[in-house]
Order: sequence, then structure tokens, then C-alpha cells
Amino acid sequence: ADLSAVVAAMPKVELHVHVEGSMRPETFLRLVRKHRLDLGVSTEREVRELFRFRDFAHFLDLYERCTAAIREPDDIALITYELGLRAHGQNVRHLEATYSPGPRYRGRGIPYDEQLDALSRAAERVLADTGVRMRFVLDHVRGEPLDECLEVAAMCVAGARTGDVVGLGLGGFEPGRPASLFAEAIRYATGNGVAFVPHAGEAVGPEGIRDCLAFDPARIGHGIRAVEDPDLLAVLRDRRIPLEVCPTSNLRTGTVRDLRDHPLRRLWEAGVPVTVNTDDPSMFHTDLTDEHRLAVTHFGFGVAELAAMTLAGADSVLSPEPDRQDLGRR
Ligand code: ADE
Ligand code: ZN
Repeated sequence: ADLSAVVAAMPKVELHVHVEGSMRPETFLRLVRKHRLDLGVSTEREVRELFRFRDFAHFLDLYERCTAAIREPDDIALITYELGLRAHGQNVRHLEATYSPGPRYRGRGIPYDEQLDALSRAAERVLADTGVRMRFVLDHVRGEPLDECLEVAAMCVAGARTGDVVGLGLGGFEPGRPASLFAEAIRYATGNGVAFVPHAGEAVGPEGIRDCLAFDPARIGHGIRAVEDPDLLAVLRDRRIPLEVCPTSNLRTGTVRDLRDHPLRRLWEAGVPVTVNTDDPSMFHTDLTDEHRLAVTHFGFGVAELAAMTLAGADSVLSPEPDRQDLGRR
């Protein structure tokens, strides 16, 4: 059979995708018009141009604008629902999506409980309409004030009570903002049954990952720079800490200069659990099937290896047991 069709049909898990980074250009325009916002674009052509990838600085600017277009709980529910639908189209069976509550929304008057409710409503609709189970990681953006992280952690603990939230993440600009700065918030979350799933080892080298290890991370977002440190690779392998690898994102953000330099294969061969993911699919112009296809065409994974990678990913889902059994594992 056609390889592309086989890869498309394979069941998948997506563990690293940002709700805001999955906002479709059409939806961005819809929100801009609905709220009569001046975010620098007003026509379909301008929006298409805005979503064309240029460089990292432009990506950050676009990310900010997408975030700024979210003004009310229904907007959060809409983009989350659309992400779920898109995942269903990729044969994703289980989706852990990252959402950054942050002061930007609260400043506009969306209280945390209404944000949680919007995520929860969307996940319920996604499950009802597609059968895709959706859970959330709430991300503290590293550059935001320290006490903000405590609030995000508290929101995680509240969201974990309904089963919607499974993890506390750390995103944003890594240099100079190690996880240890946020120790109190991280310990509060993990002490209350919320997993810690930071981005690390993307803009910062192996030390960024080592800095997270003290907090017993369930997985690491990106983490690809672990490849620079053989001892660290052994730790990740022995402690079975999976890396959520996002090859196209790494290329677009300049984390790797060329896909030929990308360490996915070396990480896999070192015995580190790895999964492939999209990160910000609307901004990096990718989807999960594309990333899986890359694993085969570029990184030389056979279909059986790809299936093994998906099962390793399924092993690291953060949801409670009933969820995990649904993934068809023994
Ligand atoms: N938030 C969205 N995408 C991100 C990335 N690639 N690194 C850190 N934070 C992010
Ligand atoms: Zn990310």
C-alpha cells in the first residue's frame, strides 16, 4: 500500500501541541472580526500572508496576535474544539493539548475558572463528536512573573479534580529562566497529583533538562539537546522519561539548522523514549500525519518502529487508567 496512506491511517497520540498555536488563519480572522480588533490584518489575503512562516521573531509576533484575538471563553472553546476535530482527521486517539492561561487573558477579564470551563466544554464536545479523548497541560510561560506560575499551578490542581487537566507545563523563552525558579509552584502541582511536563533542552542545552530532573518530570517537551550529553541520555533512558520531539518546529525555530542535523534517530537509538508531535501546527504548517511521515521518509523509521514509537507515547499518557486501557494496550 501507499506509504503515505498507511501512515495517515495509523492510530496516533499527540502529546505536544499548543491550543493557541493550532488556531487556524480562518478562525483568527473570524475572531478579529467578531471583536472588531486591530491586529494589523483585516482581509483573507493579509491573514494568509501573516501566517506564512518567516522566522522565529515573526513566529513569536504571530503567536502574540493569536493570543490577543482570544477575548472570551467561547473563543477558547472554539479553537480547542477545532484542534480536536483536526486531530480526529489525523487518526489521533488521545490528545494532550497545552494551553497557556497567563495574565494576558486574565487581564482581559477571563477568570481562570471560566477558562477551565471552556476547555472542559470543548473536550466534551470533541469526545462526543469524534471519540477523541482530550486532556490539558496548563503552561506557565517562563518569562511571566514568578507568582503567575503559582496561579497556573493552582488552576492545574483545580482542573485535575474534573480530570480535564493532567499536567503543569513550562513554555516560552528558556534561557535564564530555569525550572528551579518555579520550584514552589511545581512542587505544589506534583504534590497534588498533577504531572510536570516542561519544555526544556530546546533553546538551552542539556543543563536545561538536568535542571528539570529534580522535579521528576513525566515527559520533556522537545529535549532534543539531550543528545549533546551521553550521561543525560542514559538517565532519560533508565528513568523512562519520554521526549516530545517536534521535528518541523525545531527546523522552523532554528533549534536545528537542517533536518539532517536533527537528532531524533540518535535519541531513539540511545534507547530514550521519543514521540513525534506538532507543537504549533498552524504556524509551522504541519500536522501529526506530516510528522509521522517525516519519521519514515527522513528519519528512516520503519512502519513497525513507528508503531512502537506510538505505543511508547501511549505508555506515557498522563490520563488515569481507564483512558490508557482505551488505547488498546494490554
Ligand atoms: N510555545 C509555543 N511554542 C513554543 C516553543 N517552540 N518553545 C517554547 N514555548 C513555546
Ligand atoms: Zn511547545
